[in-house]
Amino acid sequence: MKILWSIVVILSNLSSRFVCCLDNGLARTPPMGWLSWTRFTCNTNCVTDRDNCISEKLFMDMADQMVADGYRDAGYEYVSLDDCWLAESRDKDGRLQADPLRFPSGITGLVKYMHSRGLKLGIYEDFGTRTCAGYPGSEFYMQLDAETFADWQVDLLKFDGCNSNPQDDKFGYPAMSFYLNKTGRPILFSCEWPLYEFQKQMPSNYTNIAKTCNVWRNFWDVSDSWDSIKGIIKYYGDNNALFQAHSGPGGFFDPDMIVLGDFGLSYYQQRVQMTMWAMWSAPLVMSNDLRNIRPESKALLLNKRLLEIDQDPMGVMASRIWIFSDLELWLKPVMPKGSFVFVYFYSQDNGNGIPLSTPLDGIGLTDPNGYNITEVIDGQHMGIFKPSDTFKCHIYPNDVFVAKAVPLSGAFWARSKVADWSFLEKRIKDLKLF
Ligand SMILES: *[C@@H]1O[C@H](CO)[C@@H](O)[C@H](O)[C@H]1NC(C)=O
Ligand SMILES: *[C@@H]1O[C@H](CO)[C@@H](O)[C@H](O)[C@H]1NC(C)=O
Ligand SMILES: *[C@@H]1O[C@H](CO)[C@@H](O)[C@H](O)[C@H]1NC(C)=O
Repeated sequence: MKILWSIVVILSNLSSRFVCCLDNGLARTPPMGWLSWTRFTCNTNCVTDRDNCISEKLFMDMADQMVADGYRDAGYEYVSLDDCWLAESRDKDGRLQADPLRFPSGITGLVKYMHSRGLKLGIYEDFGTRTCAGYPGSEFYMQLDAETFADWQVDLLKFDGCNSNPQDDKFGYPAMSFYLNKTGRPILFSCEWPLYEFQKQMPSNYTNIAKTCNVWRNFWDVSDSWDSIKGIIKYYGDNNALFQAHSGPGGFFDPDMIVLGDFGLSYYQQRVQMTMWAMWSAPLVMSNDLRNIRPESKALLLNKRLLEIDQDPMGVMASRIWIFSDLELWLKPVMPKGSFVFVYFYSQDNGNGIPLSTPLDGIGLTDPNGYNITEVIDGQHMGIFKPSDTFKCHIYPNDVFVAKAVPLSGAFWARSKVADWSFLEKRIKDLKLF
């Protein structure tokens, strides 16, 4: 099997004329949507928990809510299945099939439901012999499964890695990517390839991963807790330069689902998750119950200024400029030309927060004509600042301060003292942004 995959990989490399990322036209900005896992896990009990079990009803309910409450129009378009949608076995022709009791309309019915509402359907499979929850895996059926997903008109595949040998990932994921391509249907490919390498402490080759996948998970599953969110922020900060170099339109790092609206995060901690994911140009994939969500969570999920940062067409993952104990500063170049978003993140558990005061050029904003600065979450205008002016704000415990600075001159990203943005010029030219 391994030999066969190597041949497929070689063929797929030969036929590929692309230099950087998977060339299927998808994920030009980070994908946005909803996924069942963190909130609804593998609850298959539809007898006594009909509204919350993994069934077509759950996904249809979420789709209805996404349309009615403005999530779809804000950009959340993929409604995605995770594990436990499958029947216990393949059909007599070896094809995958949905659990017939929980998905009576089949995946084709669910796809129709999504497409007729302007949404897309994401599906889940696993590169190993079985999925993580023990349903049939794709290991010996990759071509057939790719064809099945395309026949069903599925729009995204999340490809897990349980019950496989991580040594085989470098063959298996490119093979699936190759077969998806051969179907002729653009299917966004979401990989867990580097996650399984990370778990086995094997290095990941992000050049190859970016050629194979549109988005990729590379760290532990998010859970509905503040420790989990802080752990992800630390991991992405500690590996900042490596991840930034391999992230951009067509291929993004996936720090996992957005848990706003669940049980584990305070309002301020929810501001932190939403902001940091946006700063990284990460996929925004909610896993919550949109039928029952507090207005402040909904407002953050729909915050236009935050979504604009995430969806910025240059798709630059922010730089962690410095970290000092429980305070850190992140900086991300965004449109319009020459603008930056800067974020202070303060992870202290006690007290009333701290006042911050810094000359603007101390955070790398050096355009001599100055910047017009707006706080992002509430949209409060803060004034015009020259690089030598002192910028003041107050940051609260387990919270972020987020501001966008737009240069008055519209100059190119000024040569910054704090980070090297030289790659931007080329990216902007490639993307034909201006
Ligand atoms: C398949 O790959 C080729 C070459 O990279 C690309 O031009 C084409 O758009 C891809 N098609 C799909 C459906 O992904
Ligand atoms: C990643 O793989 C490519 C092609 O297989 C190789 O050229 C490159 O040197 C590898 N990069 C690293 C960091 O190992
Ligand atoms: C600064 O930005 C605000 C929006 O936050 C806008 O209303 C104002 O016109 C801008 N000022 C200048 C001088 O560009």
